[in-house]
Amino acid sequence: MRTLVTSALPYANGPIHIGHLAGCYLPADIYTRYKKLKGEEVIHISGTDEHGVLISLEAEKQNITPQKLVDKYYKNIKDSFERFGIEFDNFSRTSLKIHHKTAQDFFLNIYKKGYLEAKETDELYCQKCNRFLPERYVEGICPFCGFESARGDQCEKCGRWLEPEMLKEPKCKICKQTPVIKRTKHWFFKLPMLQNRLKEWLDTKKEWKDNVRAFTDSWLKEGLEPRPITRDIPWGISLPLPEAKDKVLYVWFEAPIGYISATKQWNEQRWKEFWCSSDTRLIHFIGKDNIVFHAIVWPAMLMAHGEFILPSEIPANEFLNIEGRKISTSRNWAIWLSDYLETFEPDPLRYILTSNAPEKGDVDFTWDDFLARNNDELSDILGNFVNRTLTFIQRYLGGTIPYHKRWRAKDEEMLKKVKETGQEVGELIEHFEFKKAIKSVMALAKEGNKFFDYERPWENQETRELTISTCASIIANLGILLEPFLPFTAKSIRDMICMQENRQWDEIGKFTANEGGELKDIRILFKKVSKEQIQVEKAKLGIGSAPEIEHKKEIEIKDFEKLELVIAEIKDVQEIKGKENLLNIRLKIGDEDRQVVAGIKKCYKREELIGKKVIYLANLKPKTIGGIKSKGMILAADIDGKPILLIPETDVPSGTRIR
Ligand code: 2FM
Ligand code: ZN
Repeated sequence: MRTLVTSALPYANGPIHIGHLAGCYLPADIYTRYKKLKGEEVIHISGTDEHGVLISLEAEKQNITPQKLVDKYYKNIKDSFERFGIEFDNFSRTSLKIHHKTAQDFFLNIYKKGYLEAKETDELYCQKCNRFLPERYVEGICPFCGFESARGDQCEKCGRWLEPEMLKEPKCKICKQTPVIKRTKHWFFKLPMLQNRLKEWLDTKKEWKDNVRAFTDSWLKEGLEPRPITRDIPWGISLPLPEAKDKVLYVWFEAPIGYISATKQWNEQRWKEFWCSSDTRLIHFIGKDNIVFHAIVWPAMLMAHGEFILPSEIPANEFLNIEGRKISTSRNWAIWLSDYLETFEPDPLRYILTSNAPEKGDVDFTWDDFLARNNDELSDILGNFVNRTLTFIQRYLGGTIPYHKRWRAKDEEMLKKVKETGQEVGELIEHFEFKKAIKSVMALAKEGNKFFDYERPWENQETRELTISTCASIIANLGILLEPFLPFTAKSIRDMICMQENRQWDEIGKFTANEGGELKDIRILFKKVSKEQIQVEKAKLGIGSAPEIEHKKEIEIKDFEKLELVIAEIKDVQEIKGKENLLNIRLKIGDEDRQVVAGIKKCYKREELIGKKVIYLANLKPKTIGGIKSKGMILAADIDGKPILLIPETDVPSGTRIR
């Protein structure tokens, strides 16, 4: 069995925002990456949707040709996906010759089989612009609610579906002139011919997601009507009929055929293995606004054509709102991926959009939630588990992952959990339950932390190699488990423990860490996000204002020189009875010992601190804190009251001066 994964072709009329990602690209990527790790044959196909009125309208707005516009956004969109780790086997474009030809052949095929009919219709025509006005080129008064700038396809105010002819006082959107009614000819796809076959086929898809079933049921119940599949506009794929060369195929007719042309372009020899074999599962990842086309019209087109397989699954997602409001690109209520990537790494967003995915209903993205999930889950749970284990190996075990002598029952228990997690996560992904899947991976990291805390390797000398070996094994398995969801993090983990690439999903829980292996370039997996950063992002949406940094009075260099700042090494750490946030820290500056009391106990554990080189203000007047004489001060950044210790970028001898 092979799998053909597609994700909806994004319009090349603007950049990608987080709603696109949550809607289909991220789940499709997770699914494909997982299937590849399973060793199954799978390809992920998509590309830009480059025709249609949305493209020509935007080109007119930007005063460039439609071709220039789609060239620009094809590049921009492809680049955004790459930077965000969305991988395709082919990311194509519908303006390519191969697609024009495939779409025209498709049209001719179903035309010859009698599934199309030509009919005369009345349409709005602008005499000044010399053209027919498709839905979005007309504005007028909504016949239902009286809204004055209702579009020809829908009233934005009352939400009713409209036809351009229904508008009162219609106006051409480009020149504002009143259009006239003119007769024209269009080709209609005779959907009623396929109503029964569609119903029979959809009856075998009862296990599809409820949101998809709800659409298909209600459409079939209402009865299908012939749908026009041609348009009188200049930008698009021209009709392959001699008498109608000036018409183009409706974008929603040819775009899904793009899945086929993109597969052809991927591999001219092998594309038929995917499209013409009952051994292939065809899975369309889409957002809910695309359900009707993918679950009714497109399968009907495929049935009419007859040579291609039908979709097996259509896991459509609902909408992602932002800060309580529906995404609207025209009102700039969106978070653009390229903007996001200027400040943050891709994986935290991949994490948040997966753990809060719109799988069953609309969900809300808020920047506060982004901060909380990044700091409390990614950084404090997953990042912390990996970091504390690896720094322990580096500091106490000479940077070599320890050999275990013989597993204890509790080590075996942990590895069993790893294996079970692999199976559970795999099944959840198979059922498109990505939200639950990522939760299960995080639960394993939580277990790892609990195990580390319970085993206290910093105290228990005899068992610490076993404990650490087990923790390192969990981490190695996380290097695969995380790959579908957080591929950059998974790669960092594998790099740090010098793990062999090309591991398979089914090995999860069966293999242990690379014992005897060396660690390489230990680094923090997730940076904390500060309230100030979030304020900046909110300000971009127009909520609140960007934070102002309170500046202090200017000083002379001689004022700064009064501070004796040096690198100091933490040698020992003791708790102070009755003080819940204080630690008594013994430092070394060169040969000299110092004692300092620091309010960092809530954020740092003893074993994490020992061996760290910190920045120390050595000449601060001594003071008694918590009953202990404290001399000097350790420097830290303040993230909303949480201290983050400042540490030199590379290893520096203690006693080194800071200037
Ligand atoms: O809604 C959209 O963004 C469309 N461009 C999706 C097309 S999907 C497929 F049919 F190609
Ligand atoms: Zn006009």
